[in-house]
Amino acid sequence: MSQPDEHAKRHHRRASFTEEQQLYRPLTVEEDRQRTNIHYEQPVEFFYALTGGDWNVYSANLWTGSETETQSQERKLDLLAELMELRPGMRILDVGCGWGGPLVYLSKKYGVRGVGLTLSSLQKGAADERIAAHGADVTIVESHWKDYQDDEPFDVVFTDEVIVHFHDLGDFFQKVYGMLRDGGVMLNKELHFAHARYSEMTRAMSFINELYGQTGNYRTLAEELTLAGEAGFDVAAIRQMPLKEYQKTIDHWLANIKANRARLEEVVGRETFRRFQTYLQLCHHIHGGTRMTLDLVVCRKPMPVAGPALVARNSWGRSSTLTSNGGASADRATAGRCRTTRSGKATAG
Ligand SMILES: C[S@@+](CC[C@H](N)C(=O)[O-])C[C@H]1O[C@@H](n2cnc3c(N)ncnc32)[C@H](O)[C@@H]1O
Repeated sequence: MSQPDEHAKRHHRRASFTEEQQLYRPLTVEEDRQRTNIHYEQPVEFFYALTGGDWNVYSANLWTGSETETQSQERKLDLLAELMELRPGMRILDVGCGWGGPLVYLSKKYGVRGVGLTLSSLQKGAADERIAAHGADVTIVESHWKDYQDDEPFDVVFTDEVIVHFHDLGDFFQKVYGMLRDGGVMLNKELHFAHARYSEMTRAMSFINELYGQTGNYRTLAEELTLAGEAGFDVAAIRQMPLKEYQKTIDHWLANIKANRARLEEVVGRETFRRFQTYLQLCHHIHGGTRMTLDLVVCRKPMPVAGPALVARNSWGRSSTLTSNGGASADRATAGRCRTTRSGKATAG
């Protein structure tokens, strides 16, 4: 296709979607609540049948080495626990906690105290029932992350396929920074565009975005890392989860709803059932391609400098401060001025 043809096609594609259908729409707290609940306030029975397993995890699980839904959910949660370095007695916050399964599992297995945030009263009700059944040290709060206040700092704050709903991710990272103790960990698992060019709206994306109340804000991994750095975090680790794990998770969700079709059509209605089925089929297709990546980003809030600081200059010309625990944390002011030259070398200045 010649270049003008390609431009015309792109223009036509962009023009065929309304403002409402676009990604990255700045919504108020109340709009966020109403719109995300279009999706998550379908009856609990529907989502429990869809997700299956003991923990009803509504995000990609780890199927390699797992035979059952419960095993795939626990393998994924064990990976999160390892990356977050969970230890007994820690206090952790799960922003976007679904029906509480992940937090209850982590609390019981790793001896941590948990707080979970959700915008859905149905999710909170189901999570409270699960907590009581397991006697877990977990509290669920029905609150937007922007409204949540807590005086006691957290050791860990994490999200699992939630930050796609946040149009102001930089503000979220700053809020998490304020809620963590020094040296605390933030982990975010999310799908990312493999390149910014894939952010252009397609019919499939628009369909999926509508099913989620048009609250989508997919980004590239680079954008997420930039925002985390600007909030003051150091990136401790990045782990990619193969998309085939997501595809297999989706295939199980599809099989689950098809196996319970008659009952679930009564629970949510035929049209909603059909739309969820189409959504899962589209996700299966997307996750078989190369337009998205699925990444776990582990960040750490730097420890403050204790006593007279030793300032070293590393091979990138960036100053780092040797902290009391022996680790090196980037000087934020210097790091902010750090830029990359055409030769690929970073310079401070
Ligand atoms: C895809 S589900 C993921 C649930 C859970 N993390 C899991 O892996 O099973 C997204 C969750 O994020 C919550 N959520 C979305 N936007 C939120 C916001 N602004 N504040 C708090 N929770 C939010 C939804 O209510 C829902 O529980």
